[in-house]
Amino acid sequence: MASITFLFLIISFLSLKDRTIALSSSSCALQSANVEFTLSTASHSASNPTSSCSLQQCNITSSDNLTCSLSPTPCFNYRTANNISYCAPAIDCPVLQPCNNMTYSCASNDSVCIVNSCCSPIAVCLPLLTTNFCIRGWSMTGFMNVVRYAHTASTLLDGKVLVTGGYFSGRYLNSVEQYDPSTGVWIQTGNMNVARGLHTASTLLNGKVLVTGGIGNSGYLNSAELYDPSTGVWTQTGNMSFARYYHTASTLLDGKVLATGGYASNSYLNSAEQYNPSTGVWIQTGNMNVARQTHTASTLLNGKVLVTGGSGNSGYLNSAELYDPSTGVWTQTGNMSFARGYHTASTLLNGKVLVTGGDGNSGSLNSAELYDPSTGVWTQTGNMSFARGYHTASTLLDGKVLVTGGSGNSGYLNSAELYDPSTGVWTQTGNMSFARYYHTASTLLNGKVLVTGGYNGGIVWNSAELY
Ligand SMILES: *[C@@H]1O[C@H](CO)[C@@H](O)[C@H](O)[C@H]1NC(C)=O
Ligand SMILES: *[C@@H]1O[C@H](CO)[C@@H](O)[C@H](O)[C@H]1NC(C)=O
Ligand SMILES: *[C@@H]1O[C@H](CO)[C@@H](O)[C@H](O)[C@H]1NC(C)=O
Ligand SMILES: *[C@@H]1O[C@H](CO)[C@@H](O)[C@H](O)[C@H]1NC(C)=O
Ligand SMILES: *[C@@H]1O[C@H](CO)[C@@H](O)[C@H](O)[C@H]1NC(C)=O
Ligand SMILES: *[C@@H]1O[C@H](CO)[C@@H](O)[C@H](O)[C@H]1NC(C)=O
Ligand SMILES: *[C@@H]1O[C@H](CO)[C@@H](O)[C@H](O)[C@H]1NC(C)=O
Ligand SMILES: *[C@@H]1O[C@H](CO)[C@@H](O)[C@H](O)[C@H]1NC(C)=O
Ligand SMILES: *[C@@H]1O[C@H](CO)[C@@H](O)[C@H](O)[C@H]1NC(C)=O
Repeated sequence: MASITFLFLIISFLSLKDRTIALSSSSCALQSANVEFTLSTASHSASNPTSSCSLQQCNITSSDNLTCSLSPTPCFNYRTANNISYCAPAIDCPVLQPCNNMTYSCASNDSVCIVNSCCSPIAVCLPLLTTNFCIRGWSMTGFMNVVRYAHTASTLLDGKVLVTGGYFSGRYLNSVEQYDPSTGVWIQTGNMNVARGLHTASTLLNGKVLVTGGIGNSGYLNSAELYDPSTGVWTQTGNMSFARYYHTASTLLDGKVLATGGYASNSYLNSAEQYNPSTGVWIQTGNMNVARQTHTASTLLNGKVLVTGGSGNSGYLNSAELYDPSTGVWTQTGNMSFARGYHTASTLLNGKVLVTGGDGNSGSLNSAELYDPSTGVWTQTGNMSFARGYHTASTLLDGKVLVTGGSGNSGYLNSAELYDPSTGVWTQTGNMSFARYYHTASTLLNGKVLVTGGYNGGIVWNSAELY
């Protein structure tokens, strides 16, 4: 019964979607507003078109009386069938229609069946005209035009997000689209010259986006192309010396781009090369000590690049190395405690690098470690609640790190967790609507995180969600 109600919540949200106009003010602040809605008009018994409310999640730590202290209106506790509490406006119970107690549905399409503490135990129809269900911080946003995974997403200097390529239905894609955070709408823009997935995309200091390598419909790619946001046009630029996928590309402080490692033609690569945007030419630089793919590369505040883990000729790697752009030389630095590939690495505001999860020699990992560039030493920090690889990690404007989705030891994940660098502790935050891996997550200029596409093991998504 409970799960039916919850299911209906989801279904009615989805069926409302077509007729839902995104409110310009509809945003869900981190860990605060959870559901936003405007009450529906005329046809409903509880019509009150002028009333709208941003809902807060109730403080369920205070034992008996749930408090809705932050809410701007007098609120009651609404509880979904899976027992998540929300504060919602003080609608008089008698004016609400009860839900159909067999199907847990509402006669009006503009209503959602929900348990309201003031009406409890009767499930009532909460009249919603415009809804934006944010599951503790998440809300759905516009759908991409193209279903895809193993694509890239880059935040442009004007705040829009450029999504390129990827894979769907047996084909690598050359299609490209752009998300406008002010409207929540995706528009298709110029196609790349070459279809590609598992490539990289880097926003250059001049605002253009450089796409490199990956795998295409006829094999591994050494080609690179540049997107000009002012014209929406892609032009081919210099080829890399090596085809590579599962490689990295990092924008250096001087604006050059460093590509490292990856895989092509039956071998793991230790080579690295540097792209100069002013000449459009790639130049080979020092080789890494260890050949690796599915590693990470992070530009440190001191300008060096830290490469971590990945997989190579001897399986998953715990080693890490530092690239000095002034000499073109790689030096080995401290080893991580755990060998890992398909993990993430995020440069924190304090300059340390947080590595999370990934796949190791005995499955997915929940562990996380911090690298201190001043000592070259790794220390273990809090573990995530869920082991995951192929996930994303995004540094938020407040310095916390949001980890989303990925693949775990028993399936694909919709869960998300937040790391607080000041405490070293992870907390679970709201779950995404869909399990995703091989998805992307981009921090927007307004501080939200846009998650796009991905795969749940059965379905490839064109949906996108905002945190
Ligand atoms: C929630 O309630 C508990 C107990 O009353 C209180 O200690 C805590 O500070 C409250 N939390 C918030 C976020 O209001
Ligand atoms: C809960 O709130 C009601 C009404 O404000 C009050 O009478 C009651 O004592 C409260 N219960 C507890 C346990 O605080
Ligand atoms: C829902 O949560 C409330 C308050 O925490 C608790 O008293 C109740 O037993 C829970 N119900 C279910 C079905 O878990
Ligand atoms: C459903 O509602 C009807 C009429 O309101 C009532 O007679 C019936 O007992 C209810 N059934 C359940 C399972 O609560
Ligand atoms: C409710 O939705 C269904 C299916 O979309 C539609 O056929 C029906 O006309 C709608 N009813 C109202 C009152 O909008
Ligand atoms: C880049 O490589 C592609 C094939 O991989 C080739 O067709 C193209 O001519 C090359 N471009 C340059 C500038 O060498
Ligand atoms: C790091 O690990 C590698 C093997 O993965 C080992 O050969 C090397 O000695 C280790 N380095 C340090 C400093 O422990
Ligand atoms: C984190 O997990 C690792 C391996 O699963 C374990 O060795 C370590 O003790 C854990 N750390 C904490 C703080 O729980
Ligand atoms: C998120 O999903 C996980 C795993 O399915 C579950 O344990 C957790 O309770 C969910 N969290 C919320 C807030 O629904």
